[in-house]
Amino acid sequence: MNTPAVKNTPIASGPATRAAAYLAEARRAAETGPEWPAATGLAADHALGVVGAGTMGSGIALCALAAGLTVTLLDADEAALQRGVQRIRDSLYGAVTRGRLLAAECQQRLARLHPATDWAALSDSDAVIEAVYENTAIKQAVMARLHAACAPHTLFISNTSTLDIDELAQGNGRPGQLLGMHFLTPAHVTPLVEVVRGRATSDASLARARALAVRLGKLPVLAGNAWGFIGNRMFEGYLREVDALQLQGVPAQRIDAALEAFGFALGPCRTLDMAGTDLVSQVLAMRGQRFEQPAHYRRVTRRLAELGRFGHKSGRGHYRYQGREALPDPDLARVCAEEARALGIKQQPDVGDDTIVRRCVAPLVDEGGRLLAEGMACRASDIDLVWVLGYGFPAHRGGPMVMAGEALGG
Ligand SMILES: NC(=O)c1ccc[n+]([C@@H]2O[C@H](COP(=O)([O-])OP(=O)(O)OC[C@H]3O[C@@H](n4cnc5c(N)ncnc54)[C@H](O)[C@@H]3O)[C@@H](O)[C@H]2O)c1
Repeated sequence: MNTPAVKNTPIASGPATRAAAYLAEARRAAETGPEWPAATGLAADHALGVVGAGTMGSGIALCALAAGLTVTLLDADEAALQRGVQRIRDSLYGAVTRGRLLAAECQQRLARLHPATDWAALSDSDAVIEAVYENTAIKQAVMARLHAACAPHTLFISNTSTLDIDELAQGNGRPGQLLGMHFLTPAHVTPLVEVVRGRATSDASLARARALAVRLGKLPVLAGNAWGFIGNRMFEGYLREVDALQLQGVPAQRIDAALEAFGFALGPCRTLDMAGTDLVSQVLAMRGQRFEQPAHYRRVTRRLAELGRFGHKSGRGHYRYQGREALPDPDLARVCAEEARALGIKQQPDVGDDTIVRRCVAPLVDEGGRLLAEGMACRASDIDLVWVLGYGFPAHRGGPMVMAGEALGG
């Protein structure tokens, strides 16, 4: 997958300006790279199916409605479907109230939304994006149902964050029409998606997926089909270190403050609370079927999920929540101390902010290097785009691979 790296654009001024010029060039390279097959003669996809009306499904539906597509939103659970529809309505009505959307446009978007629990409703969909639970068996069953329900030309897309696209394609019967498109949260806001090509995915399907992503207002970046793709594989290393720091007794708010001062849009503990420690634990459980995970591995996250401290959705996680306000929770220190004791880890909370940043950013740089060496990313600048546009890495620093180059004196 290796293609020529982005050239350094000569710019006279400071680091932030150089980083902006580098990222603009990175974008151009991702948009025009030879990894994308030509899209000649393809009809545009207009009718989108979305399966799973949870956090991601409702965000993807919002984004597709904004792009003018017709959306059939399906959930197996009627109550979950109604909650998803309500989230979409609330978001659109909120935009009208804030003067960002005309009332007439809001009504048009809602008229193009078709909630469903019957799979037959997806029979006319040009493309279907599934956003059900992060579990291989559940997603395989969904892909099989889609194969049975959808038209011959339908493109099948999984929004999995980590799972093997080839495994998800088993049982679908049309693996050439199946691939991954990893949206990041919030799906209707984040401007980038990772597109994951399976072994059997055809050129035509890849071209269609790319066109759909662009229509949805996203920059598509091609990622190899391996656990966590680009973004989450690197994120895993970063969060592993965050967890280790917590076991060591470093408070969540100190870790968040250090990484926010470095320039991250949101600290990692607040990010985990937003994603939900329950969802993250599901991901770790699936990962555990593939990789060895020692007892201390991501223990704090897993313990918080066991305790029902899911984050925003349960009002308590790494923080206590009053509305959207995150308040320090003294009880978290006790949970971390108990886990450290059980694991025989000595607590040593006295670490400086620069050490916190160095320990958390180093795995990003290392894992990014490995992704390139394995051909899982087309170019170093794609990795930087994923991190700056998708994970809130400070844009003025260019991205983790720019930092790696600087560390090597490049
Ligand atoms: N939440 C995130 O931050 C995030 C980010 C990127 C990708 N993802 C991925 O998106 C997917 C969905 O995540 P989420 O956070 O939206 O989950 P969620 O729990 O909020 O929603 C999942 C929805 O799928 C429905 N569902 C489950 N099984 C179903 C089935 N067999 N048929 C139809 N509907 C079914 C559930 O009723 C639920 O409404 C996962 O694969 C996840 O890894 C999540």
